[in-house]
Amino acid sequence: MTDDQALRQPYVFPLHDSPFSIEVAHWDRIQRTMAVGADLVTDESGIEVDFLSESDVEAVLTDPRLCAVAMPTLALSGIHDGPLHELWSDLMNGKDGAEHRRIRNLVAREFTPKASERHRAAVADIAERMADGVQRAIDAGGHADLWSTYAMPVSSRVNSRLVGIPEADAELVSVWAFDLVRAFLPFMSPDQRQRAETAAVEFGAYVDELLERLRLTPGDDIASALLHSDATDVLTAGEFRALVANLVFGGMETTAKAIASGICHLLEHDQYRALVDDPALIPGATSELLRFLPPSPVLARGVPDDLVCQHVALKQGQVAGINLLSACHDPSRYANPGEIDVHRDPGKQLAFGAGAHFCLGANLAKLTLNVAFETITRRFPTLQVDPDSLVWDRGGFAGVVAARATLA
Ligand code: HEM
Repeated sequence: MTDDQALRQPYVFPLHDSPFSIEVAHWDRIQRTMAVGADLVTDESGIEVDFLSESDVEAVLTDPRLCAVAMPTLALSGIHDGPLHELWSDLMNGKDGAEHRRIRNLVAREFTPKASERHRAAVADIAERMADGVQRAIDAGGHADLWSTYAMPVSSRVNSRLVGIPEADAELVSVWAFDLVRAFLPFMSPDQRQRAETAAVEFGAYVDELLERLRLTPGDDIASALLHSDATDVLTAGEFRALVANLVFGGMETTAKAIASGICHLLEHDQYRALVDDPALIPGATSELLRFLPPSPVLARGVPDDLVCQHVALKQGQVAGINLLSACHDPSRYANPGEIDVHRDPGKQLAFGAGAHFCLGANLAKLTLNVAFETITRRFPTLQVDPDSLVWDRGGFAGVVAARATLA
């Protein structure tokens, strides 16, 4: 057999019915590429090749020949200069190899399991106070919105506190964070683009002031630790600002959506009571919930040269689409992948990615989710959510953004 014969061929959509067309909404594209049941999908233009099986997805993410696409993605929204472009060009997400390691290694020590564990008491305190808010809303009006009273404020406060942002500013910062992360997706609308540009200016200025304050009065936070480390010698001022901003917006929307969707999925799949009865199941349940719906369902990498990856010939300039959602539902890896089973140990699942860009905040995110689920199940053992009240946002990061909760 020749090398050519050994190459795998993707399922090819005709151009007139392409899920990769700019007109197809983000989530529809994901659903349509999964619906054909192939593990490799492209269209007649061949611009993008999507990988869908768990083994392919892991191999693509860990292949050092493929490159980050933060900057080319920005270009697809027509952004070639300006404040957002400047901020993005300093982010670790968009860098490869030694340049990427230079930034990431400066903060990686702050996100080990042990370092993340140091935040447990503060996260528990935040979750407890937000649960008080849920209780107050239910006492006053009979119901509470899980997103705005619990999931969102827990995430925004935890991620703000991480770098020394006062809790009072968490809501303001979350607006910037949500506007900025849209820029990780291609083809922003003019409105999204304008909001992201504004957020880059305003959040950039906010971070500069914050760093000035922490330089004079350091706190027990990562930005203060960085200010008093070799990071100041290694990073340019722009990279320093981008890094601190990145630590805030990197995990804010994903964590908030994982909390809200997680609670709703536990209730919908009759698994909530199991956690009330046995909180020891919570860490496994967190992993299973992230597997069931990875908040960041697709990633992408660029192809800098013609190469063969997983017996797939990729051409220079093509985009390798990486479908974490389908990888996390790979039937060859998970029995009944469409069911949530909090007793299942999904083992190493790919909701946090893999390889050099593996989620920097994964340990902190897991800790926050564990605490959020533990607090809600302990405080509200008879919680229920009106299924008709659920609002989903799948435009970028996937998850529930409104859910009317009551007590049975
Ligand atoms: C449930 C919550 C979270 C999920 C599902 C998630 C998911 C991911 C994924 C899939 C990636 C890989 C992106 C890629 O390979 O292109 C990533 C990267 C990243 N995440 Fe998270 N994340 C979460 C929370 C957080 C938190 C709390 C932080 C805060 C520090 C964070 C910071 C980052 C950063 C800085 C990167 C870029 C890492 C690099 O380029 O080396 N994430 N995240």
